[in-house]
Amino acid sequence: MYEFSLNGKVAMVTGAASGLGTEYAETLAEQGCFVALVDYNLDKARQEAERIAEKTGKHVRAYSCDVGSEPEVKAMVAEAAEDFGRIDILVNNAGILLYGPKEEGKDAFMDYSVESWERVMRTNLTGPWLVTREVVKQSMQFLGRGRVVNVASVGGIRSTAAGCPSYHASKAGVIMLTASQAAELAPYGILVNAISPGSVRNGTMYSRSASASREETWKTNGCPLQRSGKYGEVSALLVMLVSDENTYINGQNIVVDGGWTIQM
Ligand SMILES: NC(=O)c1ccc[n+]([C@@H]2O[C@H](COP(=O)([O-])OP(=O)(O)OC[C@H]3O[C@@H](n4cnc5c(N)ncnc54)[C@H](O)[C@@H]3O)[C@@H](O)[C@H]2O)c1
Repeated sequence: MYEFSLNGKVAMVTGAASGLGTEYAETLAEQGCFVALVDYNLDKARQEAERIAEKTGKHVRAYSCDVGSEPEVKAMVAEAAEDFGRIDILVNNAGILLYGPKEEGKDAFMDYSVESWERVMRTNLTGPWLVTREVVKQSMQFLGRGRVVNVASVGGIRSTAAGCPSYHASKAGVIMLTASQAAELAPYGILVNAISPGSVRNGTMYSRSASASREETWKTNGCPLQRSGKYGEVSALLVMLVSDENTYINGQNIVVDGGWTIQM
């Protein structure tokens, strides 16, 4: 019998003040974890931490941190490791999507700014690399075990002409970062995998994609299940990947999209 129990584990979730990050933090607490919610929106992260603590009775705390800033990440991981005693599970979920300009006279591709490119890369790719480095350095290496999940996207394996080249490139980078981290960290007993959601209703990324957020488009857009994802459908996989039951899935990118990307 498989248990998938996470009782007493300490989990850190980045980008946990809203959307899917809040869902992951809440699910992990419900499964028995103590949880550190990390976000640069501290007020919102605190609100969510208090709500989850009240609902689950678990020790849950919010931390302010820009995942792309080395000094902030080092300090945040040190503080959380001190508060909780260790970090067993890391979910690198913080991410942003910046489109090129859509106003009259501008071109989303040709006028895409270096500032937008660098902000997206810093958050989506530097972030998971840096937070993982610090969590391993400051905690997981001493435990001799750990589970890391990087949140990529179907945008990392399929492209669009939607005017967000940095998003596609950064999420493709997250998938290879995952493979690299899995190879590097296996000797420490740390398993690293990526989850690539399709379009999931309770995330902000979903509501910003006008076509995806119209449910009728799902009847004709080639997704075999003919609908977008809903609350809990990504978390179910997350719980399995970070549990002790997962002893042999390592370095993989697992797509959760109702089969959207399997068709030509
Ligand atoms: N919602 C979807 O349909 C979908 C699909 C595929 C992938 N994803 C990925 O899932 C993740 C969460 O998406 P979401 O839709 O819940 O987005 P969201 O905007 O609701 O949540 C992102 C959170 O990350 C935080 N954040 C952003 N930059 C940060 C930084 N530099 N440092 C710390 N925190 C930061 C934000 O404050 C926010 O709370 C992202 O990585 C996204 O690319 C989402």
